[in-house]
Amino acid sequence: MTDTKRAASSVPIHDLIASRWSPRAIDQDTRVTRQQITALLEAARWAPSCFGDQPWRFLVWDRFADSDAWQQAFDCLAEGNQTWVRQCPVLLAAVAHSEFERNGKPNRWGQYDTGAASENLCLQAAALELVAHQMGGFDKTRLTAAFGIPERFTPMAMIAVGAPAAPETLPEKFREAETAPRNRRPLPELAFDGRWGSGFRI
Ligand SMILES: Cc1cc2nc3c(=O)[nH]c(=O)nc-3n(C[C@H](O)[C@H](O)[C@H](O)COP(=O)(O)O)c2cc1C
Repeated sequence: MTDTKRAASSVPIHDLIASRWSPRAIDQDTRVTRQQITALLEAARWAPSCFGDQPWRFLVWDRFADSDAWQQAFDCLAEGNQTWVRQCPVLLAAVAHSEFERNGKPNRWGQYDTGAASENLCLQAAALELVAHQMGGFDKTRLTAAFGIPERFTPMAMIAVGAPAAPETLPEKFREAETAPRNRRPLPELAFDGRWGSGFRI
């Protein structure tokens, strides 16, 4: 990764976290191996969850293994995402169980836990020097119907996965963002010392 994309933190953080970002330039021709896909799913599998319920589920579409299924998944993406995802090798969907497996009661942490599992997956992708780009822009109803997702499960995000490619391979309108520095709110805006609004200071 380029230094422009590395997280500029106020104190050092782990390199894996600093180096994860959401590229759009993905090599359309390089396969993601079954071993690599398995590693991503294993990383997700070992996320923490409320009561250890593991409410996340992942659907996997490998264009090189089943291009029809991949196409069906691709067709669920919002048009704006389709323009850069194009022929990316692997698509995933992260889906959250809305009920606890143990007692069928509503699990209001199901989506929280699925987000944690998805971040594990993205960090593992960064460790393997793969791109993983999460997307909320997709048709949830279409995805649910096309792939038989049960009613108690909520699709949260689709994730484009592949090997990185040069920014120049992207359609023009995405190129600038691909090389621009990443921004975050300052720490005191998002962390409070003891009392809401009392911005955290180093
Ligand atoms: C739940 C979620 C939904 C997102 N939806 C989209 C999307 O539909 N299209 C897109 O290009 N990026 C999407 N992103 C990527 C974000 O724009 C990106 O994570 C954010 O700008 C921070 O950039 P970074 O991941 O490079 O740090 C999404 C990210 C998350 C976590």
